[in-house]
Amino acid sequence: MKPTLNFLKEIASVAGDIIQQYVGDDLNIEHKGRTDLVTIADHDSEAYLIDAIHAAFPDHAIIAEESGGKEGQADHQWYLDPLDGTLNYAHGLPIYCVSIGYAFKGQMTLGVIYDPTREHYFCAQRGQGATLNGKPIHVSGYSNLIDCLLVTGFPNDVWDTPEDNTANFFQFTRRAQSVRRLGSAALDIAYVAAGWLDGFWEVEIFQWDIAAGGLLVQESGGVVTDTFGNPDYMKKPVSILCANAAIHAQMLEVLAEVRERNWAEK
Ligand code: IPD
Ligand code: CA
Ligand code: CA
Repeated sequence: MKPTLNFLKEIASVAGDIIQQYVGDDLNIEHKGRTDLVTIADHDSEAYLIDAIHAAFPDHAIIAEESGGKEGQADHQWYLDPLDGTLNYAHGLPIYCVSIGYAFKGQMTLGVIYDPTREHYFCAQRGQGATLNGKPIHVSGYSNLIDCLLVTGFPNDVWDTPEDNTANFFQFTRRAQSVRRLGSAALDIAYVAAGWLDGFWEVEIFQWDIAAGGLLVQESGGVVTDTFGNPDYMKKPVSILCANAAIHAQMLEVLAEVRERNWAEK
């Protein structure tokens, strides 16, 4: 049996409440890496989501950030980021969300990104469009990169990886109107779907960060690929580029230029 968009909204809402309950309390912060944190809210939100999905759909497969998830029928695949923007959350900065994606037979079908600080529900269903709190949303209509406000992020091990995204960041900062770094990939993508930001790219990212967001951008009229332009953006190693078609093409060119320059310098 397939879930409904309403089911995703309901469980995202409860997970958001769980996260908000801990605001101002001891977050029990642990380090997964030098700059990679996890809090009690990540764990509790994820445990709730897995239990809720398992209770309703016992044979579905789940990929989840903190616990790995649960094996099941691959035809029904869930992707859970129980708290996207953990660093922001741990610092008390209200830019974070819950991200839930569901794929049927390998195709992303349902996605909900819920920001509990603003009570924003970004929802998408394949073929049915994308909405914010029930109202249709669309990607922006700019056609020149210089008019665009872009957004990106950096891997949690940015200090220790050759794919650290800094060369791309530098080039886009020169070629676009400006570039933001908000600290929640799922919200970054949702804001592109809403037309508040005009393009997002990130390398060394994970399926749970982009599963719901990728569908949101497609359903709001945008184009989603990996940073090489391949349409299967969920394929590992995961990277993403999303924007309207004209801006997507221009961003792809910049990414290719940076890659060529990097290779030439090696
Ligand atoms: C991180 C955030 C961040 C992005 C990182 C993600 P987390 O997710 O989305 O914006 O740059 O790549 O790992 O760890 O807060 O769930
Ligand atoms: Ca994340
Ligand atoms: Ca997370």
